[in-house]
Amino acid sequence: MKQARIILDPRSVVAPVRRRTFGSFVEHLGRCVYTGIFEPGHPAADEDGFRTDVLNLVRELGVSTIRYPGGNFVSSYRWEDGVGPVAERPTRLDLAWHSLETNAFGVDEFMRWVAKAGVEPIMAINLGTRGIEAALDLLEYTNHPSGTRLSDWRRANGSDQPYRIRMWCLGNEMDGPWQIGQKTATEYGRIAAQTASAMRRIDPDLQLIACGSSHSAMPTFGDWEREVLTQAYDQVDMISLHAYYQQHGDDLPSFLASAENMDHFIDSVVAIADSVRAVRRADKKIMVAFDEWNVWYQDAAPSVLPSGDDWPVAPRLLEDRYNVADAVVVGNLLISLLRHSDRVAAACQAQLVNVIAPIMTEPGGEAWRQTIFHPFARTAANARGVVLDSRAIGDTVTTSRYGDVTAVDSVATWDASSRSAAVFLVNRSTSDDAEVSIEAGALGVDTVAECVTISGPDPYAKNALGEPDRAEPQPNKQVELTGGTVAVTLSPISWTMLRLGAAA
Ligand code: AHR
Repeated sequence: MKQARIILDPRSVVAPVRRRTFGSFVEHLGRCVYTGIFEPGHPAADEDGFRTDVLNLVRELGVSTIRYPGGNFVSSYRWEDGVGPVAERPTRLDLAWHSLETNAFGVDEFMRWVAKAGVEPIMAINLGTRGIEAALDLLEYTNHPSGTRLSDWRRANGSDQPYRIRMWCLGNEMDGPWQIGQKTATEYGRIAAQTASAMRRIDPDLQLIACGSSHSAMPTFGDWEREVLTQAYDQVDMISLHAYYQQHGDDLPSFLASAENMDHFIDSVVAIADSVRAVRRADKKIMVAFDEWNVWYQDAAPSVLPSGDDWPVAPRLLEDRYNVADAVVVGNLLISLLRHSDRVAAACQAQLVNVIAPIMTEPGGEAWRQTIFHPFARTAANARGVVLDSRAIGDTVTTSRYGDVTAVDSVATWDASSRSAAVFLVNRSTSDDAEVSIEAGALGVDTVAECVTISGPDPYAKNALGEPDRAEPQPNKQVELTGGTVAVTLSPISWTMLRLGAAA
């Protein structure tokens, strides 16, 4: 049995819970758009061709923001191809994913879809094959009210009012050799700064995200962030982080501790951003946009791209099927993101539907929830108010990648207006229960409103079409609140959400 202790004190506040922590990502990749969110002719499609079964699941997931249209896709995308009469839109080669892009879905469809889903868009611009002019054109098209060629084109295409998109990504993973139009940090920093200042002439209040490294193992990691921010510090608001995790071989303990890597990654980028700030004697702090994160089995069969003369439309790509352990890791990554709410201003799980996604669909058929759907939905629904500085202390487990890490990891939120707290916990031990003592007396709570756990005898159990509920949260009855202290038992390899309230 592992032991852990958590102290909840309403005076120990990290930051407010930010709704933008619960973002997601829709890329023109595989079946994320086509037969994912958009499938004219599907029995559940609405008048715009949007799958209402998927829209319902997106609302249930509690997603706040959606990044679009890529990803690697954006680096050779011509946004103009995707607007205007559908019959006149060109079919193009998508060089990022060796697929055909029909352009039946574009910016206007996306903006109609986000309005129906009730989410905020994050628009990415192409700084791979294109540059300042195309970015300005797109911004004028989306955000300028009327009276110019591009804003009137939007109106003629059916959207009288400007979209007023706030958040913009200045390209995608521009350090990556796989990126169309890869750049050095110096080249990218300069074009990012120039594009950002030109965009602000149209709309000064934009929130602009510069590309950080594609992941923390890139050989240029660190130097890239320093150089890009040295050039673009005054022009941008956030720097992006991307990270994907998977189990390597049979090393389940290290995989379960993936959030250690995320913690360290965020802390490192914040330290670099603050070192640039110190040198510049700047007041402004650069925030983090963790705008791609998830579990992704990158070397597995679903991620093998088409090749040669095979250029399919919306192929089944990156359609990973997730198990219980993956859900525990996703829950732990959300704990890490929440814990860093003082600097993580936005985050996007990559991606939303079919492509390394919590939601799966069959063309013409059902939509269903993967295991990773549940920790996301429960965290988005229950994290309210402020994040408390309340990390668990206690017994450790040994991992080959990260050394000894605490078996229990946790974060808590406190909503003073409803006098309720939510504690999100994982037990990363593969063999032992964890007995957690949560000292909540300072909150004045006296009720366990809900306690649910995702676990199971088989960490590799997956949901599937026709069996969508094999791994979903179950009530955890091993919980007791006495004299302001909660005692809760967590089974091995589990994620738990505990909600506390005050009856009076
Ligand atoms: O999310 C899948 C891909 O991962 C994105 O297109 C790219 O930005 C990242 O490498």
